[in-house]
Amino acid sequence: MTENSARQIKLGAVLTGAGGPGHFNTWLDPEIPADSSIDIRWYIEQARIAEEAKFDLVFIVDSQFITPDSPPHYLNRLEPFTLLSALAVSTSNIGLVATLTTSYNDPFNVARRFASLDLISGGRAGWNVVTSGDAGTAGNFSQEEHFDYDTRYGRALEHVRVAQGLWDSYEDDAFPRDRETRVFLDPAKLHRLDHRGEYFQVTGPLNVSRSPQGQPVIFQAGDSEQGRDLGATIGEGIFTHAPTLEAGLAFATDLKSRAAAKGRNPDHVLILPGISVFVGDTDDAAREIERATQLADGGFEQALAEFGRPFGWHDFRAYDLDAPFPVEALQYSERSFHTQAKQIVAFAEAGGLTLRQVVEALSSPRRTPFVGTPETVANELQRWFEAGAVDGYNIQIGHPAQFRRLVGEVLPILRERGVLRREYEGTTLRENLGLPFVQNRYTAARAAAADAADAASAPSEQAPQLVPSA
Ligand SMILES: Cc1cc2nc3c(=O)[nH]c(=O)nc-3n(C[C@H](O)[C@H](O)[C@H](O)COP(=O)(O)O)c2cc1C
Repeated sequence: MTENSARQIKLGAVLTGAGGPGHFNTWLDPEIPADSSIDIRWYIEQARIAEEAKFDLVFIVDSQFITPDSPPHYLNRLEPFTLLSALAVSTSNIGLVATLTTSYNDPFNVARRFASLDLISGGRAGWNVVTSGDAGTAGNFSQEEHFDYDTRYGRALEHVRVAQGLWDSYEDDAFPRDRETRVFLDPAKLHRLDHRGEYFQVTGPLNVSRSPQGQPVIFQAGDSEQGRDLGATIGEGIFTHAPTLEAGLAFATDLKSRAAAKGRNPDHVLILPGISVFVGDTDDAAREIERATQLADGGFEQALAEFGRPFGWHDFRAYDLDAPFPVEALQYSERSFHTQAKQIVAFAEAGGLTLRQVVEALSSPRRTPFVGTPETVANELQRWFEAGAVDGYNIQIGHPAQFRRLVGEVLPILRERGVLRREYEGTTLRENLGLPFVQNRYTAARAAAADAADAASAPSEQAPQLVPSA
């Protein structure tokens, strides 16, 4: 088996410029432009560093609802497709994954934008399917309130299926573009979808052809029962949290067995948790960098304000901090990040904690798994991977000095050990992730029908094999 065909760690770079959730002071680092989240030059620079280091993809998270207490990157950031279109022409190999909600978009527009990005980038587009965790988004889309969970996830599945149907509107050889014969389109290779579903009615066809990877790669993020089921049904990459190796392994096992139960190849469902990495000259020095970074990232007041996000941005500042945790606030999460909110409430109840204690526990410095010398970090990244807890990592890109150390000191160790690529295997995101090309469904059906016809017309060739030789 060649080095490139062995299972290797997949890497994504999560770019949150001035600072994402919990990272309120990243932007104070003099090496980060204070307006990095809206500075395309900053994104291009990061994407090129990641591409030089052979990362599989850059990952753009997104939302459409903010409050003054949202983290800096969320307050002022570029829209994902506009951003990734610029990255598509400034890079050549790295995958480009945009988060896009199925709750506040129509499948036709979504399919068209992704098909366009996929063509512009030569087959490097990926879609992180979310249902919008922020309930307040409803107010920006002419709705009184956010959808309930069943509707959110019902829409999500149908939405993705419609988009995939639209992406097959044209077969790969639909455009002869033959000047001699004056044939631009072969109309037999153009297909209308005629979808009539519970949430969407879409006639089609889409007015964009397919890219070299057939269809964009589908990622998914959402952790409830419905969320995991959606991931197991349509996800080819799963964006998740993995606080410990054991939790990661339990999640990966669950997700992959759900996928197998649906008749899918579990190797084609890649588990990529979001992680942070802290590298130092010694393990202790790295722990110190981790602690100092976490301490600098915000304070109690900031954490208390942001604490309301999973609960639909409910304002917890109105409560007595030293009274028992207000478990009744769980109701505000029902159309927001309900799974996360339930975990917080269970944690508070199990420890009999006050609101202050819960916020402190979640925001004070804590030891995360990927911290130490380059060797320690490489060991841990490899250990989780080899244990089957992950297929790779979506690495939160924070301070530039740390990104440099990751790329310059940690990744070479993994490369030396043969668990990280030295070169891109292909030019598309699918090829690099080891995911199969998605054959056009109509082409596949035509090929299957031709095979069946061949088999039916040649029975005599098979007959002798059925005659016992003696
Ligand atoms: C790791 C992770 C990342 C997510 N990223 C986003 C995001 O970028 N934008 C968004 O609107 N929702 C995001 N979500 C929210 C989900 O789409 C979903 O709405 C939310 O998690 C509630 O569903 P759940 O209870 O199934 O997790 C994310 C969820 C998870 C678990």
